[in-house]
Amino acid sequence: MSARKVVLIPGDGIGPEIAEATKNVIAASGAKIEWVIRAAGVSAIEKHREVLPEVTLEAIREHKIALKGPCTTPIGEGFSSVNVELRKKLDLYAAVRPVRSIEGVKTRFSDVNIVIVRENTEGLYSGVENTVSPGVVMSMKVATERSCERIARWAFEYATRRDRKKVTVFHKANIMKITDGLFIKKSREASEQYPDIEYEEYIIDAGCMRLVQDPVRFDILLLENLYGDVMSDLCAGLVGGLGVVPGANIGDEYSVFEAVHGSAPDIAGLEIANPLALIMSAVMMLRYLADSEGREDMRVAADKIKTAYNIALSNGDATRDLGGSLKTADFARVLIQNILKI
Ligand code: NAI
Repeated sequence: MSARKVVLIPGDGIGPEIAEATKNVIAASGAKIEWVIRAAGVSAIEKHREVLPEVTLEAIREHKIALKGPCTTPIGEGFSSVNVELRKKLDLYAAVRPVRSIEGVKTRFSDVNIVIVRENTEGLYSGVENTVSPGVVMSMKVATERSCERIARWAFEYATRRDRKKVTVFHKANIMKITDGLFIKKSREASEQYPDIEYEEYIIDAGCMRLVQDPVRFDILLLENLYGDVMSDLCAGLVGGLGVVPGANIGDEYSVFEAVHGSAPDIAGLEIANPLALIMSAVMMLRYLADSEGREDMRVAADKIKTAYNIALSNGDATRDLGGSLKTADFARVLIQNILKI
């Protein structure tokens, strides 16, 4: 099998540290990946004068798949968010974030298995904000039939492919009757096409309470953009934090895999960041390549990495955020040693 070219965006803050660890683990797994390294984020400004350079977008358009480290969003400097722009420009409309309890990571709940499906291109993240008059500012929440319909259909298709049983929508259509109203209307219409999958709705505040009381009753959560962003971190907290939740941004043509967490400026450069969420995102990417391109070698490599991190965490080999004492590169080294024993 030839090497598959994949774009790697190390990103900002802890991004380069966890990207390096991830590259090393993937190399040890036997997955034949040739990285095409491109910049995005604050670290791209010096060379390219923009946070999302055209050369980076071109590389993703050419190779279709990217693994991305977190990017810092500059506040109030005239640059827009890399993540929002990337998702819009490549039309990566579905954010998929599996949130699962992990053996060896002790939390209040032991059998959480939720997949968050978040609409990634509109809602309050449409970037339509303005000053109406001095002292009065406004941000517009945009919902389109097309986007509500396709994300709902995507969630039910995903549920069917993965043999999941239930899709739950969190919304606030009692207040935002038109925008969230459209979201639930399209979700209900999609659900009628999939009678084998249970469908339910919660007003988001009540849903949050149920979720933290009894997360095990939830299966797939279907959410508009802002709710999906917030709920991703909340759900991460149920299974051990941001260090263990991977993600993918998927469109009809391109896919970008990335952890849920950000660039963690508070610990950047200390080499204590947990690389596991990016490694898990890479595992999702290898499985995606196996499914979409018939690369069984990628599936074998993905399985090895998963076994390796389960062994590590069960043995208490972990970074500080999970109660361990390993540095970023040392955790990667433990995974590599475990892979070589499989
Ligand atoms: P954050 O996720 O970067 O950090 C929140 C807390 O979690 C911090 O205490 C941090 O140290 C910790 N943390 C995060 N990832 C960790 C890891 N892998 N290992 C150990 N600890 C970890 O969120 P924050 O501080 O709100 O955002 C920082 C920057 O990241 C902002 O500029 C934000 O816009 C950006 N961001 C980028 C994302 C992306 O590129 N996909 C996603 C979320 C935020």
